[in-house]
Amino acid sequence: MIERILVLGGKGGVGKSSISAATAVLLSELLPEKKILLISFDMAHNLSDLFKMEIGNKVTQLTPNLWGIEPDADEYAERYTKDLIEKMKILSKQMPFVGRIPQIEKFIDTTFKADSIPLALKNAMFFQKILDAEDINTQDIQFDIIVADFPPTANMITLFEIPEDQVKVMLKYSLNFYNSVKGAIRNISKVWRNIIKPFDNYEERRELGKEIFNMIVELEKRGERISDLIHELGSLRLVTIAEKPSFEEIKRARDLTKRYIKLEGVHINMIIPEPKKCEFCDKVRAIQLNYTSEIKKEFKKLRIWQSEKLKEEPIGLDGLRTLAYEVYGEPTSPNEILNPKV
Ligand SMILES: Nc1ncnc2c1ncn2[C@@H]1O[C@H](COP(=O)(O)OP(=O)(O)OP(=O)(O)O)[C@@H](O)[C@H]1O
Ligand SMILES: [Mg+2]
Repeated sequence: MIERILVLGGKGGVGKSSISAATAVLLSELLPEKKILLISFDMAHNLSDLFKMEIGNKVTQLTPNLWGIEPDADEYAERYTKDLIEKMKILSKQMPFVGRIPQIEKFIDTTFKADSIPLALKNAMFFQKILDAEDINTQDIQFDIIVADFPPTANMITLFEIPEDQVKVMLKYSLNFYNSVKGAIRNISKVWRNIIKPFDNYEERRELGKEIFNMIVELEKRGERISDLIHELGSLRLVTIAEKPSFEEIKRARDLTKRYIKLEGVHINMIIPEPKKCEFCDKVRAIQLNYTSEIKKEFKKLRIWQSEKLKEEPIGLDGLRTLAYEVYGEPTSPNEILNPKV
């Protein structure tokens, strides 16, 4: 059973992926009996680079109890539309006019092809990965903790919105499809319509219509389940650097995500270490320390983790572990990471 879903968000380039990966590595070491899954929800995946291992669209084992995945949104889109496409094809073949349009199958195929599906809808399907992780039927491993590396704020909000809105998106999409088909029917003459009428098979069509409707209801249920999971088990941590633009962004992100997930912490990353004889570094650090206190004032009810900019890029298991220690210190208990108190 999933116990906790940690979600890392914030402006582009502030260290969301690195801190997500570092957190997952540290948790897996502190909790050897738990199974941890790190998921990248940014379509521009970079977990493979961070771990120096090929991860991709398969749950890939990274350490004895840590797995990672970079889900392929196109594949998800295909998986979730495959049945729908089949049923639509059968249904349209049985429709008195539509079924006679010679190119109808091809038309359905292209409409529902991964690259014609709107990005938002694809994201919705991609978000289902959280449910797959919960579902013993699609997944042999039962994960206890999920660490989710989210895209920058605007896309992060779409991800949160979508499960609640999934049905509407799906319905709208199917409606668009039918509307385009209707356009094609308009060209068929009246005479033709009367000739094909006797072939109309109403009952069968109604059954298929029901099946398609049920598939959409099923999608809705999954969407609701994702929202519930995020509400119950989700813990958002916003990552920022000690500079104005990303500080402004996490304030906006806090307001925009309030209704979806509980914000429990802020990471102030890449603080310039105390300089030795460097006037420029001194100045930058002074500015950053100033923003650091501003951020702390603004988020005073939350746990704040501070981390300095490391001399070496934190990649590979060792690099990520080093970053984790920089972020969390020598952690006494994983609970400080999982359920932070101020
Ligand atoms: N504390 C740190 N010290 C040194 N380098 C860091 C630190 N944190 C992150 N980095 C480096 O900064 C760069 C950006 O980090 P990362 O990719 O994790 O950010 P991101 O917020 O996920 O970016 P994006 O929005 O593009 O997904 C990377 O090269 C990473 O190795
Ligand atoms: Mg990233």
